[in-house]
Amino acid sequence: DWTPDSFIETTIAELKAKLGDDKVVLGLSGGVDSSVAAVLLHQAIGANLHCIFVDNGLLRKDEYQSVLDSYQHMGLNIKGIDAKQRFYDALAGLTDPEKKRKAIGRVFIEVFDDAAHEVQGVSWLGQGTIYPDVIESVSVKGPSATIKSHHNVGGLPDFMKLKVVEPLNTLFKDEVRRVGAALGIDPNILGRHPFPGPGLAIRILGDITPEKVDILQQADAIYINNLRSAGVYDKVWQAGAIYLPVQSVGVMGDERTYENVICLRAVESLDGMTADWCHLPYSLLAKISNEIINNVKGINRVVYDISSKPPATIEWE
Ligand code: XMP
Repeated sequence: DWTPDSFIETTIAELKAKLGDDKVVLGLSGGVDSSVAAVLLHQAIGANLHCIFVDNGLLRKDEYQSVLDSYQHMGLNIKGIDAKQRFYDALAGLTDPEKKRKAIGRVFIEVFDDAAHEVQGVSWLGQGTIYPDVIESVSVKGPSATIKSHHNVGGLPDFMKLKVVEPLNTLFKDEVRRVGAALGIDPNILGRHPFPGPGLAIRILGDITPEKVDILQQADAIYINNLRSAGVYDKVWQAGAIYLPVQSVGVMGDERTYENVICLRAVESLDGMTADWCHLPYSLLAKISNEIINNVKGINRVVYDISSKPPATIEWE
């Protein structure tokens, strides 16, 4: 019978046999899959696992530092790379969602490739691929598609010439979470909502600037913290704030304002393929709206997205 403990035991033994004294490089995202894959590999080969965590400047507020800290507490051999400016430069002026995704994918590969080169004698690329990623045809928006489109543009980046090791590729998401819990991984990492690879770049409609990222991070943090303190976070499949580059008139004190709009999105779903908007309590929405408008400079209006998928998608881009 499958149990998390039996899976962990056999997988670690298999990884030890397969990898021996070889070195593995793995990109951590802060998400469940890459974290569980990293801890399994770490238990099998220790410091021969080299983890790379890239700050693309498009993560949630304070997330880069807090995730890096918790990985370090787990004893992982991890290198954090501040590549914010490289991503902002590549995104400057881009408004088309697919062009934004491509630019982010391209820069990620460049940054990761540079970092992988610094690991002397590495021969494997570790990945947190899970079973549904293997069977489902690659989504147009997915990160693998970004790598594919890179294929067509030029030669393969060097790290892609590495052999691939994917310890989770027989598991479903709930099994990955159970394995993660049995490995003692922080429940905050295991229970995290899905978050897209391109991050906040696809939650800021149109072009990206560091100022817009800062505003969205503040609003999003107020939103998510309120979901947590109201005990709603774990009941929602995915939630996030969206920055709308639309100005509307408001009034603050005796001053007329003309500022941007934040949209709140929260959905219930099983796998992201279909989704229903969550019926969050009005009192909670009211509290979040007040807090955002009173605290986030540049925002004078908050709206709630009541669209389901299909026909809307979860993300706005
Ligand atoms: P949509 O917007 O297509 O989103 O309804 C479905 C799920 O996929 C996530 N998503 C992405 N994940 N790279 C990712 O890694 C992407 O480009 C991307 N686009 C959407 C989205 O957050 C939701 O969980």
